[in-house]
Amino acid sequence: MAARRPRIVPAPERISGRVVRALRRRKALWRFLDEFCRAVEKRGGKPYLVGGFVRDLVEGHPVKDIDLMVAGVAFGELGNLLRSLPAKPLGIRRVVPAGKAFPVYKLRADWAEEEVDIALARTDHLTGGGRTGFDPCAMDRDAREDAGRRDFTINSLMLALRTERGRVTGAVVDYFGGLDDLRKRRIRGVGNPHDRFREDPLRILRAIRQKNERRGYAIERNTWAALRRAAPERLRGVPGERVAAELVRSLSSNPRGTVEDLRRAGILRLMLPEVPSGSRRPDRLLRRYALLEKSLGRPLPETPLLANLLADVALAECADRIRNASRGKPPGWKPSKSDPLFRLPRTEAAARRLHLPGVRPVLRMLEDLARLLHIRLLKNPNARIEAVFRRWKKPVHLVSFHEAVCSAGGIETIDFRPILKTAARRPPLLSGQDLLRLGIPPSPWMDGILEDVREATLTGAVDTRKEATDLALSIIRTTKAYPSPRKGVR
Ligand code: CTP
Repeated sequence: MAARRPRIVPAPERISGRVVRALRRRKALWRFLDEFCRAVEKRGGKPYLVGGFVRDLVEGHPVKDIDLMVAGVAFGELGNLLRSLPAKPLGIRRVVPAGKAFPVYKLRADWAEEEVDIALARTDHLTGGGRTGFDPCAMDRDAREDAGRRDFTINSLMLALRTERGRVTGAVVDYFGGLDDLRKRRIRGVGNPHDRFREDPLRILRAIRQKNERRGYAIERNTWAALRRAAPERLRGVPGERVAAELVRSLSSNPRGTVEDLRRAGILRLMLPEVPSGSRRPDRLLRRYALLEKSLGRPLPETPLLANLLADVALAECADRIRNASRGKPPGWKPSKSDPLFRLPRTEAAARRLHLPGVRPVLRMLEDLARLLHIRLLKNPNARIEAVFRRWKKPVHLVSFHEAVCSAGGIETIDFRPILKTAARRPPLLSGQDLLRLGIPPSPWMDGILEDVREATLTGAVDTRKEATDLALSIIRTTKAYPSPRKGVR
């Protein structure tokens, strides 16, 4: 019995027309597609533009990532075909095969920011050889099968390319209702969503990310149920870097929406077991994001964006460290400058476990937050505040983060701006060089002396260079630990 021709759902002409016109405007890309399409057809195959590229073109969004799929040509032949194209006139720089489970050619070209992926249709019979020979029915079936293995309907849209009266043109093909879902702003798994998440659990986070990247989008009910069911068991198997990449993209696009989705899907407590979902901490996390967006705008800079995710972990760790360090100490105890009270190894471990990018600045922001929240515990609070903010190229990020944490946590906030203004008005009166000139030998205490003098300058206790010098010398005389200045210097 002859195989039944699969049902092709052609998109309305006006949609295909709009997509093709948008493509034609990208002249260099269009020139390549023209040559490529002819070459594929000459070998009895059929080329398609696929994936997010087509989705974004239909939505009228700017697109960068280009994916092509070819039906009816073997993988080796596809390589020969690509290498036979006139490289220079088409702006092709390089073509290399890649991928194990799904072989693909990676093409670098002048007209594409990122590598262009050119793959065979993903079908059951795909073994790297592909099915060859001109059989339009089989090719359409392969295309449908390929679309059926994609994650979400909006990503299963294809643009079938063909030459018509000597000109290349294209038609949007919609096997799974992707156009309707674009219209309804809906992320829906292709076919049975359980299968889609089972095939590739990274799709759990792709669904959340793609929803949060698109204003007004929702995850369709069955897809959401499948996602929630798959998450606890399947996410563990996904490489950390890939999880982090999706997480960061989603958070940057919509931090509150992302946290809400992660929480409702039970993923937040898997990622951050230190932030129990049942407590009020997720609410505080959301509230802090709202405050940060108000002060720093959207998208949030990456360091406060990610530091905020870990703020509760950092605050709990810092509180533990202070409790342990102060145990048995007299009232009014102040930690020494070298006390590693604000090192947060537990928080660092969480950041590394999540494979967050920029762990160092994120951790520094959390440690500085901890210092600022406990600034009254420290010996020279004004000088320490100045030192903390001096380290940051954009101190406003830390100011906003601190304010958000205080406000969301019901903690009394300190306005650091007056101190920073005073610091800017009153430059330091003494330097390390000055202490050496005074005959004070280099020692680990030098920083402490300078900090004491700086504190006195910022509080107004010291006004002139002479007063500052006198203070430094008196500190040395009265503090047993400091080495004496060389005799005869003063
Ligand atoms: N795809 C998939 N399952 C995945 C990853 C990708 O089915 N886990 C399919 C989708 O059809 C997707 C296409 O491969 O549209 C290309 O993947 P990719 O470039 O990673 O994503 P896009 O959806 O194109 O774009 P973006 O990541 O920018 O949203």
